Amino acid sequence: MTEAPKKLYIRTYGCQMNVYDSERMAEAMGGVGYELTDAPEGADMILLNTCHIRERAAEKVYSELGRFKALKTANPELKIGVAGCVAQAEGAEIMARQPLVDLVVGPQAYHRLPELAARTRAGERALDTEFPSELKFDHLPARPRPRRGPTAFLTVQEGCDKFCAFCVVPYTRGAEVSRPVARVLAEAEALVGQGVREITLLGQNVNAYHGEDGGRALGLAGLIRRLAEIDGLDRIRFTTSHPRDMEDDLIAAHGDCAKLMPYLHLPVQSGSDRILKRMNRGHTAEDYIRLVERIRAARPDIVMSGDFIVGFPEETEADFQATMDLVAAVGYGQCYSFKYSARPGTPAAERPMVDAAAADDRLQRLQALLTRQQRSVQDAMVGREVGVLFEKPGRMPGQMVGKSDHLHAVHVQTDLPVGTLARVRITESGPNSLGGVLVD
Ligand code: SAH
Ligand code: SF4
Ligand code: F3S
Repeated sequence: MTEAPKKLYIRTYGCQMNVYDSERMAEAMGGVGYELTDAPEGADMILLNTCHIRERAAEKVYSELGRFKALKTANPELKIGVAGCVAQAEGAEIMARQPLVDLVVGPQAYHRLPELAARTRAGERALDTEFPSELKFDHLPARPRPRRGPTAFLTVQEGCDKFCAFCVVPYTRGAEVSRPVARVLAEAEALVGQGVREITLLGQNVNAYHGEDGGRALGLAGLIRRLAEIDGLDRIRFTTSHPRDMEDDLIAAHGDCAKLMPYLHLPVQSGSDRILKRMNRGHTAEDYIRLVERIRAARPDIVMSGDFIVGFPEETEADFQATMDLVAAVGYGQCYSFKYSARPGTPAAERPMVDAAAADDRLQRLQALLTRQQRSVQDAMVGREVGVLFEKPGRMPGQMVGKSDHLHAVHVQTDLPVGTLARVRITESGPNSLGGVLVD
């Protein structure tokens, strides 16, 4: 008699890379008899894949863990693990403070998860937050799990050497590493074989990619061109990019590579040169605006997206106005904006904070402007014809929802199946999505 599969429940926080990591952890555990379940109740193992980017990240993890206490009392065999960036930053402390936790695994060590899980089943508590010299990707099974949809993430680069003064990522993810080209191509081909039509290449600094390719280094634009040769792969995206690594051939690819979608997430954080300098970003507001102009010259209809931090230490009202001016000059289709939060261990955490009420007020004003811009970029799509890749049925009967080339959510009345890439004329623009009709 074969043993019944054990049930693994994973809850994922944070960025797309954590989403990808959770998939890979599920695959690794699939190889040792675990299958995914949608609820913590009844699971044999619970994993929290955590994010450390925001304030109170660790407290949130502790309160989540506290909620699993009853499950552990009901089932003493239940194993509870913490993975991701909080695990990396505070793993030992989590072990000491929360006896419910059986296992801690950092983002660079999760290929060892099956072995760590086996140790917990033998009654041990296991912690691994090493940065192993072997690349974890090479030790993971080749994506055996059937995919759920036509889109997928694929990590090609990990870690960051930029050390922005506010950011924990260089500490939690470690130094920049790129996966070899052949590995990326093989994984992409496997995904396409499973019905994937759109791949988003991931990296904390994805445009710093320089993967080994027959003894030489290939940049992101070269990688994208190679991926574009894969039949059945229709769309390529990448995120997140740093303005300093936006090189000429990558800009050119936006103009001449038809499979590369017209959407670019290019965080700038602030429009004030004084603050950019204190943030250690390595570029000015003017550099960024010129860069956007060059990208738009290559691909005029590109939708720009960004990240902003308001209330960075020593930010004055004039600095904030410079951010508002930059936003007005660029015209974003989509943005994420955050109030600065001091992250222990980063240089900016030592500096005096901006008054909280002033920071709140700035965030509100920035978000109001960004929302107006987002809506006007969306409204400008009405009447245009775009590609839409159907991802799931919509809420209305006979409706499909998918993403446009420009990454807008689009609703369409159709009986075409999930995974269809259709031509759609946009007919309406709502608060968060577009509506359209099929073009025959
Ligand atoms: N690698 C990406 C994103 C890193 S984290 C990049 O370089 O842009 C995602 C976003 O979180 C950042 O772009 C930044 O806007 C925000 N962020 C990071 N640390 C922060 C902090 N301490 N306070 C507020 N926002 C922060
Ligand atoms: Fe963090 Fe800056 Fe690196 Fe982005 S580039 S991950 S914001 S340190
Ligand atoms: Fe969060 Fe780590 Fe991603 S801190 S944003 S999960 S790299």
